[in-house]
Amino acid sequence: MRKSIMILTLSLLTITTTATIVMAQENEEGRRFGNFCSSCHGTAGAAVSDAIPSIGGQHKDFLKNSMMDMKPIVVDGKEQAPKRYSTLMKIFLKGYSEAEIEAMADWYSSRPWVPTSYPLNQDLVAKGKASTQLETCTSCHGANGNNVEDAGIPRIGGQVPTYLYNALLEYKNDKRMTERASEMELVKEISDEELKALAEYFSSLK
Ligand code: HEC
Ligand code: HEC
Repeated sequence: MRKSIMILTLSLLTITTTATIVMAQENEEGRRFGNFCSSCHGTAGAAVSDAIPSIGGQHKDFLKNSMMDMKPIVVDGKEQAPKRYSTLMKIFLKGYSEAEIEAMADWYSSRPWVPTSYPLNQDLVAKGKASTQLETCTSCHGANGNNVEDAGIPRIGGQVPTYLYNALLEYKNDKRMTERASEMELVKEISDEELKALAEYFSSLK
């Protein structure tokens, strides 16, 4: 009896150790690929600019989907327009395979989410907080903008302000034709001014 328990414990240990090593390797690969990205997205994905998003601690599914949607695809020798608009990322992502993108999404999502310390416009933050739209946004994104139940809904609480505003304009102007973009259709009914205030408010959250 005791012997079989010991054997069971030992084999469980072996399985756990092997799994840990495999995970560590995947993460290590993601970190290595991510070295290039840190010049813009910051060390471990905590952005320092107000227009380049923080990606460290963002949900893995959202990171992977976003990168696959910005990556140009070639069909019959012709490059198709990516589903999601980007200024720079379309150039970089061309060079990465899906498996490499997955490894980077894995590594970045395992880093801590660092709320931005970028100086915010407090008048805009107050306007965003008073917006009648806010309750609808938080019904999906969570009260602090960091819903953790649905990995396809990005964290936006503490994300950098100009990036959030640009993202809202992209949904409004049909520049993000992603699979779940329809959930963001409501922004078409909201003025740019109010979107800017909402973006600044979500940036201020921790
Ligand atoms: C020269 C600066 C720069 C570099 C280098 C860079 N990025 Fe980006 N990244 C951006 C900008 C700017 C955006 C916003 C989209 C755009 O306009 O390209 C962005 C957007 C993203 C997004 C979307 C995040 C979201 O919240 O939707 C992801 C994911 C991302 N980058 C991952 C990476 C990875 C992984 C690398 C390394 C392979 C990388 N980036 C390298 C500037 C950069
Ligand atoms: C029905 C649920 C739902 C509602 C309501 C909603 N969102 Fe979203 N939001 C999403 C989903 C899902 C995505 C990701 C879509 C995709 O994959 O392109 C998203 C993406 C975003 C992004 C892009 C973040 C990034 O990193 O690129 C921002 C910013 C955003 N939402 C802000 C808002 C604001 C502000 C409101 C209120 C006016 C709002 N959302 C209302 C579900 C919702």
